[in-house]
Amino acid sequence: TLKIAVFASGSGSNFQALADAIQAGGIPASIELLVCDKPSARVVERAASLGIDTYLFQPKQYPNREAYEQEILSELRARGIELIVLAGYMRLITRVLVEPYYGRMINIHPALLPAFPGVNSVKQALDYGVRVTGVTVHFVDGGTDTGPIIAQQAVEVLPGDTEETLSARVHQAEHRLLPQTVRWIAEGRVRLEDRLVTVDRE
Ligand code: GAR
Repeated sequence: TLKIAVFASGSGSNFQALADAIQAGGIPASIELLVCDKPSARVVERAASLGIDTYLFQPKQYPNREAYEQEILSELRARGIELIVLAGYMRLITRVLVEPYYGRMINIHPALLPAFPGVNSVKQALDYGVRVTGVTVHFVDGGTDTGPIIAQQAVEVLPGDTEETLSARVHQAEHRLLPQTVRWIAEGRVRLEDRLVTVDRE
């Protein structure tokens, strides 16, 4: 079984969806750790309910990103973590984690990359007026939402959509796509060559 650490900063609905899918069976993986930068985040309660250990840290207590990432890296190594899943982790990642985990760290993003990287992507898509947006799961590289794409799912923008209604459908798509992508990786079906990804389908 693939040992996973999920990084999250907020509600954690994607963390929950992944944990539920693993619990339901059929994904040869286990979530060993939640890494969270916000003690008050709902995801912390979710982890507690699921009996999953949490590594909490407060960025302000460190001189820079590299310093807290060093500590996280030690924790991940001590636990033998093989895959990092960024699921609503709202911080930039430095080379301290990218280099040792390149090809073994994925991010879920609420838009069809390379459109609308960064924050508030659902609002960006609405404001731009696109008719189709969606979600992307990609390997993390040194940039912001620039890494090799593994999977995408389109979500239609409907007349009258608000940020709330569109965001709800984007989340639904995320809750399917993230567990499916983790399953592909856990089954060894995802290969990264240069910066392109191939997936062996059943
Ligand atoms: C998700 O929509 C995720 O794609 C997004 O944050 C949300 C977290 O929701 N991530 C980013 O915007 C990263 N730039 P959740 O806490 O309910 O899983």
